[in-house]
Amino acid sequence: MQLSDFSPAPNQGGNPELYETENRAVDPGGLVLDALAKIAPWQGRTLVDLGCGSGYWLGSYADAAEVIGVEPDPTLVPRAAARSASARVLHGSAEHVPLPDASVDVVHARFAYFWPPRCERGLREVLRVLRPGGTLVVIDNDWRNGEFAALLRACAGSAAMGGGDRTDAWWSERGAERTEVLSSWAFDSRADLEAVLRMEFPDGTADAWLEQHPEATGLSYGFVLFSVRRG
Ligand SMILES: C[S@@+](CC[C@H](N)C(=O)[O-])C[C@H]1O[C@@H](n2cnc3c(N)ncnc32)[C@H](O)[C@@H]1O
Repeated sequence: MQLSDFSPAPNQGGNPELYETENRAVDPGGLVLDALAKIAPWQGRTLVDLGCGSGYWLGSYADAAEVIGVEPDPTLVPRAAARSASARVLHGSAEHVPLPDASVDVVHARFAYFWPPRCERGLREVLRVLRPGGTLVVIDNDWRNGEFAALLRACAGSAAMGGGDRTDAWWSERGAERTEVLSSWAFDSRADLEAVLRMEFPDGTADAWLEQHPEATGLSYGFVLFSVRRG
């Protein structure tokens, strides 16, 4: 099936092993999951992880009544399916969610598809599958807080991405709530930190930071959660 909105992810799709290392380092204190659970509790409910990649986070929602991963990259769907026996993994995308109307309580997208402003169709599709009272929660980068945000602002092309203001405005116009979570990345080794930063910033943006922090095996990282409730 061709999914017109599928845009392969250079990190998750291009180097799944290294992206796994990145995911292992993300948010060691579980602050993002805590915030997500507060905004949209999934216990006993049906949760969709939209753009679930290789399914790293599917196991985090084990106490949901049902967990469904949706992923457009055909190379990642089998990886995600193999990871979790209890989750169902479907080939689909934000604009083509293969689920019936009003069948889901929580849709959660973690660094997937929702890069405003070109995501109106996906938002409409997510609202179609959500039950009344259901919630979409999108996890994005905070462009203002944390050492990772400074790297984002410094990287080539960041001005064109609007530095967070455009994203905030787009969600605000759609009635979204905005929640900041200041957390971190913590790697097992310096080599892992360097490899992941160089994957995320192939233009060399992170090199100066790495030189200035020769002992670092992690860095502070701000997340923003945008949530929209279906009325
Ligand atoms: C940066 S990865 C994040 C993967 C996963 N959410 C995680 O945090 O481990 C972005 C994911 O979005 C997927 N993706 C690309 N286009 C998409 C679309 N139109 N709808 C939903 N997901 C999409 C990619 O294939 C990739 O798996």
